[in-house]
Amino acid sequence: MQVVVSAPAEVSERWRDGLAQAAPELDFVLWPEVADGDAEAIEAAVVWNAPPELYARCRHLKCICVLGAGTDQLFAPGIELPEVPIVRIVDPVMALRMASYVLAAILHFQRDFHDYVRQQRERVWRKHRSRDSHRVRVGVMGLGAMGRASAKLLVTNGYDVAGWSRSPRRLPGVEGFAGEDGWPPFLARCDYLACLLPLTAETRGLLGVETFARLPEGAVVINAGRGAHLVEADLLAALDAGRLRGAVLDVFETEPLPPEHPFWDHPRILLTPHVASITNLETGVVQIAAALRTVRDGGVPVNLVDRARGY
Ligand code: NAP
Ligand code: GLV
Repeated sequence: MQVVVSAPAEVSERWRDGLAQAAPELDFVLWPEVADGDAEAIEAAVVWNAPPELYARCRHLKCICVLGAGTDQLFAPGIELPEVPIVRIVDPVMALRMASYVLAAILHFQRDFHDYVRQQRERVWRKHRSRDSHRVRVGVMGLGAMGRASAKLLVTNGYDVAGWSRSPRRLPGVEGFAGEDGWPPFLARCDYLACLLPLTAETRGLLGVETFARLPEGAVVINAGRGAHLVEADLLAALDAGRLRGAVLDVFETEPLPPEHPFWDHPRILLTPHVASITNLETGVVQIAAALRTVRDGGVPVNLVDRARGY
């Protein structure tokens, strides 16, 4: 089976080599090193932000494996996807990475590190009183692989945790809310709101002025889902009006974040360059190799994306 690998330049060879080691019987070729005639023979694609022409030229794909958890990139305008199974990564290692990011983001504001960093620069010795974790209400948007692991770690750390999902989900120690009816009461109890949703038509722009207005005064917003979940101008307005206390952002409408973007200098925004939960190569290649073998043998792989739902 011939498999094309299209990943960001700085990691593409590592993924190709890792996959070749995990499945030596398969033939991996890097995009765009695929001659026109050879594209016809390619039966699977392993991708992260692959260009639309890959799908146009590799016309006999039987499967697409995404090198991450989120698959919104496949449904972007200009991409014509073949009707084949789409497999994503569902990995406890990644989920724990996300959970630790969410915990760190909360602690940054809860324990006033955002102020202490500034105070240290100014040589100011001033103590702040922080709220203990059991008095901090956290809401996790999305209770999938990422959201469940994050909610679990937060419960373990003594927070008052709620979760919001499309369908009702039960998790130990987590107050569950679902769908449109659950949205207002969920938001009303979020001192910290962490967005770990997939980007779909329903979730695009969800972190905007109407959502912020439903949060308790002085809430902190964490976005590690996708940049387009957030209405950037609404966030700036809510921070500058004091409606929100702060934001921790890992994902952006445009990545890398342009140098002139107002988020860089904002005193109440902590930003990171899309690193909340980087895909783990060691476990990732094993999962993808298993999916490719299943497809080669005529089976149905696990961790499939539901195209109708968009995630
Ligand atoms: P997942 O397992 O598919 O879970 C998605 C969750 O979101 C599910 O609980 C789902 O509800 C919920 N959801 C989807 N649409 C909804 C809607 N309209 N209203 C309410 N809830 C909705 O996804 P995952 O593996 O946890 O990953 C989630 C996202 O995290 C990815 O899509 C990606 O965008 C982002 N991510 C970011 C990074 C990073 O480094 N920043 C890394 C990995 C992932 P149901 O349970 O009812 O289906
Ligand atoms: C990263 O953003 C992912 O979706 O895996």
